Amino acid sequence: MAHDTLVIEATRISKTYQTSAHDLEILRQVDLQVSRGQTVAITGASGVGKSTLLHILGTLDRATEGRLMIAGVDVATLDEDRLATFRNEHIGFVFQHHNLLPEFTALENVLMPGLIASVAEGPAVERGEHLLERVGLADRLHHRPGELSGGECQRVAIARALMMSPQVVLADEPSGNLDPGTSERLHHVITDLAAAEGQTFVVMTHDRDLAAGMGRHGHIEAGILQFESKEIVC
Ligand SMILES: Nc1ncnc2c1ncn2[C@@H]1O[C@H](COP(=O)(O)OP(=O)(O)OP(=O)(O)O)[C@@H](O)[C@H]1O
Ligand SMILES: [Mg+2]
Repeated sequence: MAHDTLVIEATRISKTYQTSAHDLEILRQVDLQVSRGQTVAITGASGVGKSTLLHILGTLDRATEGRLMIAGVDVATLDEDRLATFRNEHIGFVFQHHNLLPEFTALENVLMPGLIASVAEGPAVERGEHLLERVGLADRLHHRPGELSGGECQRVAIARALMMSPQVVLADEPSGNLDPGTSERLHHVITDLAAAEGQTFVVMTHDRDLAAGMGRHGHIEAGILQFESKEIVC
């Protein structure tokens, strides 16, 4: 696959929520093209539609209008079953609220996507341990979420998102509960993985430092997504 292959191609995506009071137009004709290995941050005020866009890009919600191609597939052509399999194989999620399963350990939570896809146990455990090491939790493998801090849970969720080596990782406020040092490490984990494994990251965040560390930085305001052109500092 060429380095500049488009992994995400969203064209004129609009989203209107119908509420009992009135229609809420959240996203207006959003265009987003992301190549393999690119890291993209999207910022915007609370309620502007970052999670909405993330859920649409992750095929968890459908746009009111527009077309979405992920890894060359027009997701509108997939029925619910094929979409669920496609999502598990191609997309890793870090949700705003980390959604770990409370009765399972950190390692078991990370292994969950592999279990769904029937990945062999030995290599899966090795990868799960490796990923937890990468996010700095080598000594917390067998702790349950209730025995971990908020930031540690978020890091488990990041390791889980990477388990299947998805082409696309969509992260919603991944540094929300992290202190600046850990947030800084997260930025390196993301950029290293993008460089080493060619993973594509789209990160919705309020964290200006994390956004500054990503390759591209877009901003949503009044439903419109616009990208800043990065100044090249010599
Ligand atoms: N299912 C829904 N039905 C109606 N309105 C919704 C629905 N989901 C979200 N909204 C509205 O859409 C807007 C965008 O929500 P969204 O969660 O995408 O914002 P956000 O940018 O992620 O905010 P935050 O930074 O606080 O996480 C909000 O005003 C919210 O109230
Ligand atoms: Mg949100």
